[in-house]
Amino acid sequence: MIGRLNHIAIVVADLDEATARWRDVLGAEVSQPQALPDHGVTVVFIDSGNSKIELLEPLGDDSPIAKYLERNPDGGMHHMCFEVDDILAARDQLLAEGARVLGDGEPKIGAHNKPVLFLHPKDFNGTLIELEQA
Ligand code: CO
Repeated sequence: MIGRLNHIAIVVADLDEATARWRDVLGAEVSQPQALPDHGVTVVFIDSGNSKIELLEPLGDDSPIAKYLERNPDGGMHHMCFEVDDILAARDQLLAEGARVLGDGEPKIGAHNKPVLFLHPKDFNGTLIELEQA
């Protein structure tokens, strides 16, 4: 069911500092920061060739990643995102297998303007998994 790894998202406390570190220490190609107010994050994209890394900094008062940063002040890996051909078919198959879909179970439009769903981390070894319609 899952296809290509679309991205891995890392929450950071200081986006400028994190971006400089990935660029200068790891030699990564980093994008300009992009504010996504609808998603409560500012993001820097890193092209790793076969996938992407997204550095996420909270934006606004009700950022969905604010709580994560409270629990993990140094930041950390937040989720990984896999592409699926048909997100509704993938959801129904996962539900039939007993996996839990977060929220009301209906896909929302994600940061790349494509429908996304998140799966409960307790069902996948403590890892939050995002599915994105390819
Ligand atoms: Co994501």
